[in-house]
Amino acid sequence: MDVLFLILSLLLIALGWTWFLVPAFYGLPSVHTRKGRIRKALQLAELKADETLYDLGAGDGRVLIMAAREFGARAVGIEVGPVQCAAAWVNARVNGVRHRVRVQRGDFFKADISAADVVFVYATSSQASRLEKQLESQLRPGARVVTISFDFPDWEPADFDKYELLFLYRMPPAEGNLVSFLAQQ
Ligand SMILES: C[S@@+](CC[C@H](N)C(=O)[O-])C[C@H]1O[C@@H](n2cnc3c(N)ncnc32)[C@H](O)[C@@H]1O
Repeated sequence: MDVLFLILSLLLIALGWTWFLVPAFYGLPSVHTRKGRIRKALQLAELKADETLYDLGAGDGRVLIMAAREFGARAVGIEVGPVQCAAAWVNARVNGVRHRVRVQRGDFFKADISAADVVFVYATSSQASRLEKQLESQLRPGARVVTISFDFPDWEPADFDKYELLFLYRMPPAEGNLVSFLAQQ
């Protein structure tokens, strides 16, 4: 009994460390988005049934699940953390959307996201310039990108939710930035 308890404790500690350390290594911590904020972001992006949403850094899969359950979309999560991937996989099954949700383990900077109609991304300003290049080179015209808490330095948003700090971009992106967008309002 004592040995079993020790093994389970060590396993939990290892999983806990993996949950925090892998994202930290990639410079983007595992902080989740509130459900109400996710819903507003997907509404801002006008996600439609049967469109494909990509979440770059999917965490526990909550964005994928809402996209599939409430919006009827297909959802693909790219996630570098193995524990987060497992959590997202389990979450999709528990929520009955496993046929519409796919979780892919890997670095989103190296992923092919060209099939996306909508890209959801909760990253940091320091990753914005690199993401701009990737999104611009891969996404088709008409695709939308919705960002949480950070904006792109060289793109003018198509819409902006100042209460939830959400930024919407349509491809191909307009030159400008948040200041040029606000100047037109
Ligand atoms: C801020 S959390 C957002 C989680 C989820 N999208 C949400 O909004 O609730 C960022 C996630 O991205 C993952 N991540 C960090 N860098 C990554 C990378 N280069 N490629 C794939 N996933 C990454 C982290 O493990 C973490 O789960």
